[in-house]
Amino acid sequence: MNLLVVGGAGYIGSVTCQVLLQAGHKVVVVDNLSKGHRAAVSSQAVFFESDLGDGERIIEICRSESIDTALHFAAFTEVGESVAAPDKYFDNNTIRTKSLLDALLRADVKRFIFSSTAAVYGEPLAVPITEDHPKSPTNPYGWSKLFVEEILRSYHQAYGLRSVCLRYFNAAGAAYGLGEDHHPESHLIPMILQVAQGKRESIKIFGTDWDTPDGTCIRDFIHVADLASAHLKAVELLSEDSPGGAFNLGNGEGHSVLQAIQIARKVTGKTIPAVAAPKRPGDPARLVASSVLARQVLGWTPAIPDLESIIASAWEWRLSHPQGYLES
Ligand SMILES: NC(=O)c1ccc[n+]([C@@H]2O[C@H](COP(=O)([O-])OP(=O)(O)OC[C@H]3O[C@@H](n4cnc5c(N)ncnc54)[C@H](O)[C@@H]3O)[C@@H](O)[C@H]2O)c1
Repeated sequence: MNLLVVGGAGYIGSVTCQVLLQAGHKVVVVDNLSKGHRAAVSSQAVFFESDLGDGERIIEICRSESIDTALHFAAFTEVGESVAAPDKYFDNNTIRTKSLLDALLRADVKRFIFSSTAAVYGEPLAVPITEDHPKSPTNPYGWSKLFVEEILRSYHQAYGLRSVCLRYFNAAGAAYGLGEDHHPESHLIPMILQVAQGKRESIKIFGTDWDTPDGTCIRDFIHVADLASAHLKAVELLSEDSPGGAFNLGNGEGHSVLQAIQIARKVTGKTIPAVAAPKRPGDPARLVASSVLARQVLGWTPAIPDLESIIASAWEWRLSHPQGYLES
């Protein structure tokens, strides 16, 4: 199939491109490189430097490349920044996504895979979280994604656009020589590894008196290659005339922040100093996915569920790319 990957120069998008290429699909990447890296885009993919909100360009690309299905990874992803600058998030993540969808429909592309997030749930009422859990985001980032999910529901009814929303929990790890290199970095595993690299003095633990066994927050870490393989399954599902749906992607097992730091110490052999910091507003104590639906409907099983292997792959990438993509 001919697949459009919007945001394919970013962390999860670039790894997904590799999986799609290996499965024999043609991959066309659109990215404005505001956050992504040209070096992360496979030489086997067709690349267009363009904004997702440039409807005319998207239509032109879809028509010239005979696109069947679009996968949409492009977004701003910093929760804290979304609180300080919600306009930026609603513009890039929601309004431009609506413009992308309108362009796709005009180009007669009616299959869409969307990078959603666990942040659509907000503070969980029960864990593991199932897809029918109430949606109540605690920050504009989560809302910017939930609004898109609502648009997709309406566009399906009105215009026949079929979609799969993949709600990722905490992506981590590296694969195919591609790793996580965000500026600024706000994700736990790369920040811990930056301490191991000597690029940060210490790792902050936001809250040490949560209602969890060791008092630190619990998160569900999922290997980026496992997220990527779920996208391949979603492409296949939509090719079978399925109406699509929303699926959690996680391992269904939580690790505390302290456990993640301890595993990283073991993997890297470094001390990795940690300091306690105040809780951040809107941070849930536990975020753990039920991925039963993804397993049943998509036939997806994470291949690398073990956190030590996830962190080891990220560390290996950091050792081979000490400056991230800067040196490429
Ligand atoms: N990383 C995670 O743990 C995580 C968890 C849940 C959901 N997500 C979602 O997954 C997606 C990918 O995350 P990531 O960590 O790979 O992010 P990323 O920042 O590495 O990649 C996003 C890519 O989109 C591009 N982009 C942003 N705005 C654009 C625009 N207007 N036009 C064209 N390109 C644009 C960026 O240049 C970048 O290459 C995002 O939608 C994010 O919200 C990520």
